[in-house]
Amino acid sequence: MIVVTTPTGNIGSRLLEILLNGAEPDARAGMVPTAALGARPVAEPVRVIARRPEALPEAVRERVEVVPGSHGDPDVVAKAFAGADAVFWLAPPTPDAASLESAYLDFTRPACTAIREQGVRHVVTVSALGRGTPAAGRAGLVTATLAMDDLIADTGVAMRALVLPGFMENMLRQVAAIRDQGVFFSMASPDLRSPTCATRDIAAAAVGLLRERTWTGQGSVAVLGPQDLSCPEMAEIMSDVLGRPVRYQQVSAAAQYESLTGFGWSATMAAGMVDMMTAKNEGLDNAEPRTPRSSTPTSFRQWCEDTLRPAVLA
Ligand SMILES: NC(=O)c1ccc[n+]([C@@H]2O[C@H](COP(=O)([O-])OP(=O)(O)OC[C@H]3O[C@@H](n4cnc5c(N)ncnc54)[C@H](OP(=O)(O)O)[C@@H]3O)[C@@H](O)[C@H]2O)c1
Repeated sequence: MIVVTTPTGNIGSRLLEILLNGAEPDARAGMVPTAALGARPVAEPVRVIARRPEALPEAVRERVEVVPGSHGDPDVVAKAFAGADAVFWLAPPTPDAASLESAYLDFTRPACTAIREQGVRHVVTVSALGRGTPAAGRAGLVTATLAMDDLIADTGVAMRALVLPGFMENMLRQVAAIRDQGVFFSMASPDLRSPTCATRDIAAAAVGLLRERTWTGQGSVAVLGPQDLSCPEMAEIMSDVLGRPVRYQQVSAAAQYESLTGFGWSATMAAGMVDMMTAKNEGLDNAEPRTPRSSTPTSFRQWCEDTLRPAVLA
């Protein structure tokens, strides 16, 4: 029995597709890791935890057991983890949270109790790059994410943290600015080249770990996309794919903070995001060595063709 949290999210929904069908319906670049898994549906039962079961596609609801509720709720996780062998764990983004501690650690504590009490054997977490780097302890959201991994590791369960750079999907939050003003914004230093990955590649990596549970102990698996890119290089690719000029504009920490709080982020979470971006400019995402395994297939150009262009043209 595999338990999947956030089945309606970016990663969770794609993970379920691959788990249940062996491939995403329209996966192109995503087919590479999926094909490497044999493109077979998983043989064991799948259970999902969903606050809004009605948001799951009918075809998914017919094939999984649904435990309704939040995976931050002790009763819900106790029920969902009963008889479970493996869990896919993702702490949901909660921009209005009162503190980083409550968003990541308090949210995850009930799951740690349930992992212990229900005898879960394997956990795959959604985590972040940066462990062991000088900025890891002052990287806001990432520091909290790494502490969440430590909390789960303390249960003694076999664990793999998927250590991730910024997602390509983050660019979808800027579709209006890209379409209407031909610009996108970030705090990232323009001359910094960093990895970026597509959520379908994260999902494929998670499925690989959940299906083939020969691994023991605790460790991490990096998902880095095929190449490091700077923001101006991303703008060049977007311009090419969209057939119209897109430029990059760096914003200050103060402007980033103001923009996030304007969108309803709590002061603490906005500060956590600014600290994370500052740490990324200091090399948080650049220490993980690239290997054939960590260089996942979906390129930024491919992602722009498959996902960004339809979103901008819509
Ligand atoms: N974005 C990045 O660049 C980046 C980089 C590294 C790591 N990460 C990590 O990746 C994760 C985000 O992954 P994602 O993009 O797949 O997430 P997502 O698409 O935003 O999905 C969020 C999911 O969480 C559920 N959810 C939201 N609030 C919840 C709550 N309070 N209780 C229970 N469920 C809740 C949502 O379900 P319903 O609304 O349907 O209930 C949805 O399924 C975060 O942990 C983040 O720290 C992100």
